[in-house]
Amino acid sequence: MDRGFIYLKKTNFLNNLLYLKELTQKNLCLVVKANAYGHGIEWAVNSATEAGVAWFAVASVDEGIQVKEHAKKARVLLLSEPSISQIEKIRINNLDLTVYNESFINALIDNGSTFNVHLKIDTGMHRLGFSPEKFKDFFRRIEDSNLNLVGICTHFPLADTDEIETKRSIKLFENTIADIDSSNLILHIDNSASSFYNLDSSFNMARVGIAAYGVQITAVDNENKLKPTLEIKTRISNLQTRKKGEAVSYGKAQTLSRDSIIATAPIGYGDGYPWNSFPDGKVIVNNQFCNLIGRVTMDQILFDVTDVNVQIDDEVTVLGNSMDGKLNISVSDIAQWNKTIEWEILTNMSKRLERVEVE
Ligand SMILES: Cc1ncc(COP(=O)(O)O)c(C=O)c1O
Repeated sequence: MDRGFIYLKKTNFLNNLLYLKELTQKNLCLVVKANAYGHGIEWAVNSATEAGVAWFAVASVDEGIQVKEHAKKARVLLLSEPSISQIEKIRINNLDLTVYNESFINALIDNGSTFNVHLKIDTGMHRLGFSPEKFKDFFRRIEDSNLNLVGICTHFPLADTDEIETKRSIKLFENTIADIDSSNLILHIDNSASSFYNLDSSFNMARVGIAAYGVQITAVDNENKLKPTLEIKTRISNLQTRKKGEAVSYGKAQTLSRDSIIATAPIGYGDGYPWNSFPDGKVIVNNQFCNLIGRVTMDQILFDVTDVNVQIDDEVTVLGNSMDGKLNISVSDIAQWNKTIEWEILTNMSKRLERVEVE
């Protein structure tokens, strides 16, 4: 082992996909933007294809092209409009587009080719999307054009915290499309969080990201049947003895309260392990938690192994289970130490960590 590994758990990933499919009774559109939430686009697309997933969602044209390289028959949905300069690449690679701006729609119409489009309605997120009032004009324009209307969608701002408000957005969506014929269209409004309580299968596709990757965050009580899809492991690369009163790493941010044995492991914020993990963060070595003992650096972390029997090259669990399976560090733990969200922890895991499928 050189530096750090991400161990990818295929069985857990497939289980999560099958569970979500069964729960929602909807087609899944797996969100694989930002390197498939750190897992690697190739791995996520190949594995999900085995589980029967036929739709993938991305944030950029280049991500979309990567998906197509691994799943030629898959449908790939761009979640936001790219710049007009990308239209030729979109045509060549046959990507589906989420659209909501007149200028972009005009550019697609002027191009003259057939493009698969999904109209986005703003039902409360106020980030992207037509207002409900404008929706029908654009619906009609697209119907009479070279564009192939495939779906209608929206996105929720509070799906993970507020079921009532999310249901208001759903009602607004339903009212907005009430007097159009949507029988041949894909209606996709759910992300992971709302998939646990919007069980109305007339919305026939759900765009799931974080739940597929094993993290359940939703506004309702729900037994957690999702399983973690990755672990991050590294090794002890250095051991040193330091005296009480000394301090280690940049800023000498914590003075040692006793004579200590300090271990170093080759992972840092350059690998996506976040800087704010100190002072609350921990790792696991030989089935014991060890506290971080100085600031996280770009390539190394330091932690206290005074009470643990260790040697160089011992395995260090940064995220995942201890060897005996009794201790665990979750994505949510790391997010909490860093006062951030689970999505940011996963999507920041850099390409420097080698990804290896384990089971
Ligand atoms: C438009 C859209 N749909 C779906 C998702 C998936 O969200 P989640 O990871 O919470 O399932 C995202 C994620 O950012 C998104 O931007």
